[in-house]
Amino acid sequence: MLNNVLMPEYPQIVSLPASPEGVVAQLETYRGQFLREAESVEKAAQAGNAAELQAFRDGWLGRKQGLLAQLNEHWLKPAPGEAKKLIGQQLNRLRGEAEAAMERIEAVLEAARLQAQLASETLDVTLPARAPRGASHPLTQVTERILGIFHGLGYSLAEGPEMESAWYNFDALNIPESHPARDDQDTLYLGPDLPGHLLRTHTSPGQIRVMEQQAPPLRVAVPGRVYRRDAPDATHSPMFHQVEGLAVDEDLSFADLKGTLEHFARAMFGAATRTRFRASYFPFTEPSAEMDASCFACAGSGCRTCKNTGWIEVLGCGMVHPEVFRAVAKKNPVYETGKWRGFAFGMGVERMAMILYGLDDIQRFYSGDLRFLEQFAAHADGA
Ligand code: PHE
Repeated sequence: MLNNVLMPEYPQIVSLPASPEGVVAQLETYRGQFLREAESVEKAAQAGNAAELQAFRDGWLGRKQGLLAQLNEHWLKPAPGEAKKLIGQQLNRLRGEAEAAMERIEAVLEAARLQAQLASETLDVTLPARAPRGASHPLTQVTERILGIFHGLGYSLAEGPEMESAWYNFDALNIPESHPARDDQDTLYLGPDLPGHLLRTHTSPGQIRVMEQQAPPLRVAVPGRVYRRDAPDATHSPMFHQVEGLAVDEDLSFADLKGTLEHFARAMFGAATRTRFRASYFPFTEPSAEMDASCFACAGSGCRTCKNTGWIEVLGCGMVHPEVFRAVAKKNPVYETGKWRGFAFGMGVERMAMILYGLDDIQRFYSGDLRFLEQFAAHADGA
């Protein structure tokens, strides 16, 4: 049984040689043995193996059983005068060597331990992250681009609720009860539990809500979802996005509106972009216009993007109608005075994105199809 247990091989003491030469020779033998063992223990230590070191230390330097202690006890102590001196010198030399070797091995072991720790804790901070980074949705990207341009002109940001009252969505905007847009063929009214409530059909109720809260002068952009009772097809969706703009100040004119929106068109489609304003009609602006921009794809000569017209319809706009100020004044009397002038505009985000990216099917924006969406990752911020 005992044979199966690996016991450290303690160096064994032999009886004191009779002659001084014999003593020197025997100590030289011990020294040789020690050096061989030290070498093998050091090798083990380099590989990070500390197990052998303890047995080695006990065998040679152990306080009672160690060979050097025993030589002290059985050789040195009983030795007579002359021999004692010789044995003492030889033993001291051997002990010095043993202690130095032990220190060296410990240092090797410590270095190996540190090396192993460094290897296990190594973190390569230059490795690129493996997780896909994702990107914002193309509609978000286009919305942010639009807002960024108006932000640069000093516009602040506001948002309104998607569930609106008929008053904010229509009445306050001078859209009469009889207007076809109010027809439930066009507007999504909310159930009988919410009479007079609907899903906003445009972001223009945002104009009313902003003015109720803020006195002029003001410049504000209102992005958001809007809803219409349209069957989905390549160019229609019952839900889409708009960005509204509103400026109110003491002496704003149509020239301010034009200057602002011309700047926007150039920032959006390129510095060479020209604009034209066509007379139009909205109940909440007077006069009203549609702004077209010269086609950025063909510079106006006619192509697929502009359907060969050379122009792209960009937005609806106009000077804020006095009836709108009057409706707002019911809650915020500052607007009653008649000294304010304003202009407003509204644009469709999907339309803008489809023109910019040359897309022919609005439904792609809502499909969640990564093969479509991943193409816009490169356009995203920071990518
Ligand atoms: N609300 C209008 C629409 O949805 C756009 C518009 C906004 C027109 C502001 C003029 C002023 O079509």
